[in-house]
Amino acid sequence: MTVMLESAHPLPPYKSLSNDELVERIDAVRADLGPKLLILGHHYQQDEVIARADLRGDSYQLSQMAADSTDCRMIAFCGVHFMAETADILANRPEKLAERGGERVQVVLPDLAAGCSMADMAGIAQIEDAWDALGEVIDTQRLIPVTYINSAASLKAFVGRHGGIVCTSSNARAAIEWAFKRGDKVMFFPDQHLGRNTAMGMGIPLDQMPVWDPYALDGLGGSTEQQLQKSKVILWKGHCSVHQMFRPEHVHSLREKHPGIQILVHPECPRDVFELADYSGSTGKIIRTVQEAPPGTKWAIGTELHLVNRLKQEHPEQEVYFLSPVVCMCATMYRIDLAHLCWSLENMQAGSPVNVIEVDEETARWSLVALERMLEVK
Ligand code: 13P
Ligand code: SF4
Repeated sequence: MTVMLESAHPLPPYKSLSNDELVERIDAVRADLGPKLLILGHHYQQDEVIARADLRGDSYQLSQMAADSTDCRMIAFCGVHFMAETADILANRPEKLAERGGERVQVVLPDLAAGCSMADMAGIAQIEDAWDALGEVIDTQRLIPVTYINSAASLKAFVGRHGGIVCTSSNARAAIEWAFKRGDKVMFFPDQHLGRNTAMGMGIPLDQMPVWDPYALDGLGGSTEQQLQKSKVILWKGHCSVHQMFRPEHVHSLREKHPGIQILVHPECPRDVFELADYSGSTGKIIRTVQEAPPGTKWAIGTELHLVNRLKQEHPEQEVYFLSPVVCMCATMYRIDLAHLCWSLENMQAGSPVNVIEVDEETARWSLVALERMLEVK
């Protein structure tokens, strides 16, 4: 369980300030707190927020940054809830606490409503029920749970307790390989698409990947006993509402309009889109691919809109297109704005922090087991 020490809403004055005023006040806090404050920003953040971040990255890189932080005592996490939880666990792991004489790094999420709809598709009670039900038909001692980092800390702790691992979009294959060295079957949650796309790339056939539907009434997640017994990877019925909007017809239409265009997608996209793409990868890999391509190359990118628009601006030497004709943006990432950031920073500076994310000790201890395994596999 995550303890939120305090939850509040920004005072109206912040909402009425101009962006220039907010930037000035945010920078004043940064100057005052110096290296004690670290502002982390995920690539899906709005431009004006990302411009105030000390470091930006994908989920894996941001976890490493939190794990490696030395001077900072406060992290303002411009991203979503599970990311702030992960930062809290890694920045406050026992050896780091000992180095600091027990002093905690305080992690705040500028807007507590910044969740992840995919993470919300798998609750700990549902996972435990599924595990128990699976135990009736297969040997769960040989079933290794793998959770995508886009999940609550309670799920990471479940995975830690059951000999499993956390993965990100940049090391999902390595994590599944790690799991198969320790068991015969993998249970992958909450994103069925990342699980399926990765496992198919490893040569696992679709008929060995049943999907576990937590709402099925048959007590077996909608599969038969035989399907579960012959399975290699049991996928959870969860998805990202942003990435599921990319469709194969978008790929066909851009290829027709722009001959030579290369399709680059995030592995949270559905399989039919993923299979048509030329390349795929985490948000960090998407950025590197465009950066490192020879100038004048054409790219259609299937991931969150803010990142694609930023790539367009930062790489005028490339032709960058958004893969979908409709807006696919992460509404929860978008909740973090300059007003919330300024409000949370000024409260931190005043010693009255708001929206503190602190994972309870027991959950943090087991989550850390699974997160450390994640940081070890690349
Ligand atoms: P990355 O790990 O690629 O940054 O993706 C995080 C995410 O939430 C994608 O939807
Ligand atoms: Fe979650 Fe999808 Fe938003 Fe990523 S883009 S934070 S998976 S809802």
